[in-house]
Amino acid sequence: MQAIDRSPFESGMSRSQNSFLPCVPPLPACHIPPAAQTPGVKVLVTAGPTREPIDPVRFLTNRSSGKMGYTLAGAFVHEGHSVLLVSGPTNLDVPENVDFIPVETAAEMHDVVSKHIGRMDIAVFAAAVADYTPASVQPQKIKKSGDTLTLELVRTADILGSARQSFGFRGTLVGFAAETENLEANARDKLVRKHCDLVIANDVSQPGIGFDSDHNQVLLVYPDRTESLPAASKHELSLQLVDAIVALKKLMVES
Ligand code: PMT
Repeated sequence: MQAIDRSPFESGMSRSQNSFLPCVPPLPACHIPPAAQTPGVKVLVTAGPTREPIDPVRFLTNRSSGKMGYTLAGAFVHEGHSVLLVSGPTNLDVPENVDFIPVETAAEMHDVVSKHIGRMDIAVFAAAVADYTPASVQPQKIKKSGDTLTLELVRTADILGSARQSFGFRGTLVGFAAETENLEANARDKLVRKHCDLVIANDVSQPGIGFDSDHNQVLLVYPDRTESLPAASKHELSLQLVDAIVALKKLMVES
């Protein structure tokens, strides 16, 4: 498994690169963490796929590019909020002024989120987390031996589903739902089961939106209503989503 570099964030420095806007070099070591500069709310965003190792050369993963989560992270910062992005492996640059913790597996993402979510006002789960992981990781490359090979998989922890009860998160909780059928009904089921305030539902069977696309089209599924946003670039959509999520947070604080 790949070594994880968490030291920049945990020592209070930002691993800042830029993809929301053109690339800039990483900020110097004396950079003040964005959380200390920004008057906005504190937001945790998960993004990207997870990688579940099978043996030293193979892993289970999915088609998430990380674009949805990374553009959302960039949009929150653009609107004056501070963001911690927890991401599985992607090819993307980290948006400017976003604090960043890279992870590889669902278990690692679970541990990082559990450690940091308590001080957040908003948590948005855009990551495509593996629901199953190999029951054991083989220490050596698995050799070809027969015509079939059976892998035993076990469930991963539901990170979003742990936010309220296990992690004790009291802020605004936003999940995503990646569906191929019954979009609204399945998203509403996740809203209730995972104790979310909002689920952003995308139909990942449609070409040109969802996984690994620069565009998306979503339903906003709230406890009392559903709103539809038209297809747009993930960049434009992220700005609309930030407005909707921050408005929801304000409403929750006032009520
Ligand atoms: O990364 P891109 O290529 O830009 O694609 C964007 C996207 C399609 C990945 C994104 O828009 C999206 O839908 N993300 C959620 C993908 C997903 O795994 O959905 P789900 O319906 O399986 O999970 C529901 C929710 O539970 C999600 O918020 C997910 O992050 C969370 N979850 C799921 C399993 C698990 N073990 N832990 C979790 O936290």
